[in-house]
This record gives sequence, C-alpha cells and structure tokens, in this order.
Amino acid sequence: MRMKILGSAAGGGLPQWNCNYYLSRAARSGLAGIHKRTQSSAAVSADGAAWVLFNVSPDIRQQIAETAVLQPSVNSQLRSTPIRAVVLTNADVDHIAGLLSLRERQPFAIYATVQVLAALDANSIFNVLDPELVPRRLLPLAEEVAIRDAEGLETGVTVECFPVSGKIALYLEDRQHPHANFSSNAGDTIGIRVAGGTAGGAVFYIPGCASIDAVLRAMLTDAYCLLFDGTVHADNELIAAGVSHKSGVRMGHLAMSGNAGSIAALADLNISRRVFIHINNTNPVLDENSAEYMSVRAAGWEVARDGMEIEF
Ligand code: MLT
Ligand code: MN
Repeated sequence: MRMKILGSAAGGGLPQWNCNYYLSRAARSGLAGIHKRTQSSAAVSADGAAWVLFNVSPDIRQQIAETAVLQPSVNSQLRSTPIRAVVLTNADVDHIAGLLSLRERQPFAIYATVQVLAALDANSIFNVLDPELVPRRLLPLAEEVAIRDAEGLETGVTVECFPVSGKIALYLEDRQHPHANFSSNAGDTIGIRVAGGTAGGAVFYIPGCASIDAVLRAMLTDAYCLLFDGTVHADNELIAAGVSHKSGVRMGHLAMSGNAGSIAALADLNISRRVFIHINNTNPVLDENSAEYMSVRAAGWEVARDGMEIEF
C-alpha cells in the first residue's frame, strides 16, 4: 500500500490568498524552512495504478499536475484517470470543493456518510458530476469496505470509517445561534482506517478531530501510522494571531500542545509514525526554525509536507 499526501495544509493553504500573517509572507518570499503547502487531501493505492482520493481540495488541479501517478498514462484512452474513487471525511469546503474540478464526464465513485451526501445533494452545483457517471455511495461506518470504482471493480483499497468528534461545515452553521454547540452528530466528521498491505499495520487518516476519547484511542491500537489533525498548535492561536475570534475547539480542531492536546493524549500509544496533517497557516510548526516545530519533532511527531509518501 502506498499513500501520498497531496495537500498538507488546512483550508486556505500556505500562503493563503488574502493572508499577510508572517507565515504566509515567509512562504511567499521563499524563506528557508517554510514550505508552501496546498489544501488537505491524500491519495492511496494498492497497486500503484488505481488511486483513491481522501478528500478533494480546491487545489486538486495543481496537486494532480504535480503528481505523475494521478495523471492519464501515455497509453491510456483519450480521456482517462488513475483516480477511481473519492472518500470524503466531512463536507468542509477544503474537502469537497475540488469535486467541481473533476467534472468532464469522467467516471469515478464518491463515498461519504449520510450527512456529507446530504450536503452534496443540497448543492445542485455538484450535479456537474452526473450521478450516472459518478455514483454517490453511502459509506457505512464501523465496517470494512472495499472501495470500488464507478463500474464496481475493486480498487484494492479497503477502509473502515468511524465517527470522530468534530463540527458541521462552516456554511451549515446556523447564524441565528452563534453560541450554539456545533459539535458533531456521529457521521458529520469521520476518520479513515486504511488496511495495510502485506507489510502489516494500518494507516489512520484523521484530518479533523475536536477531542480524543477512549473509543478513538482503542481504535488506534493497531496503527502503524497516524495522520492526525494538526490545524493549530495552541487552542487560542487564531485569536492570538489576530485573524479570528475562534478557538481551535470552536472550529472542531484539537490543539497539538497542552495537557489535553493531541501530543499528550496519544503519547502512550504504540504508533510507529505520527504525522500532523491539515496544518493551518497560523500554526508556528510551519516554520522549521521555530521552538514549536522543534518540540513537536522531539515529541516524536512529523509535520507533513506536500508530496510526502507512506508505504505500509
Ligand atoms: C475546517 O477545517 O475547520 C474548515 O475547513 C474551515 C473552513 O471551512 O474554512
Ligand atoms: Mn479544513
């Protein structure tokens, strides 16, 4: 099994189009140790030929352009793609908007939960993907699912999806109730366990997660590699940066640091590789010269970069 991180940043990417914070500025100017990143997505393949996308970001066109294995092969049909299916972990813009760039009457399958399928169905612009060619399939939770292409052929990728605490998509929040608890119903936000190849252990892909409980910790016991929500380093980070009034938790994202943060909450688990993904452009770990980056690395975590590969 092979996984490629197509986009390691959270919504907005690095640099974000309208952001003048020091991290976006440094990424624009090419400062050493601060790498540009596209928005949140990964690709998985069992045979190197058929690929399954986990989330489709608004940067998918650039990501395909930079990833040869996702392009039509020289001997393929006039219109073709190695992308056979898409699995969505929530209905956030950074995870679904790229679907609109995958039009052009190309068959592939979309897998998502009831809530995420409802968000697609409620927005008729997604009908540019003709359901006759691009079937939308319900992703059952808590069972192994063989991901199949539009024609029903197995891709060789098997997943088990499970609810994690999160938040409904920003555009689904009720503006009449700005102080409501927007925490998730089971299925608004999910994590994905990808069964390993002959080498063994599973890889977990969890780009959004608001808290870690005993159920999630138990899920991770056979993880070889965990790709986990690295949106913010500190819960008040966006407020301190002056770019938003929202905490990490209010956005559905658990901070890396702190007594209840993800580094501490997962420290005792037996996981060989721990990698932060979905990193927001306010997170100081994006600067490899920062104290926060050093401390995250010292705690045994990697900070994902676009193009990173994991074999399992
Ligand atoms: C998130 O991860 O919290 C969302 O992508 C935020 C957004 O919709 O911009
Ligand atoms: Mn996001």
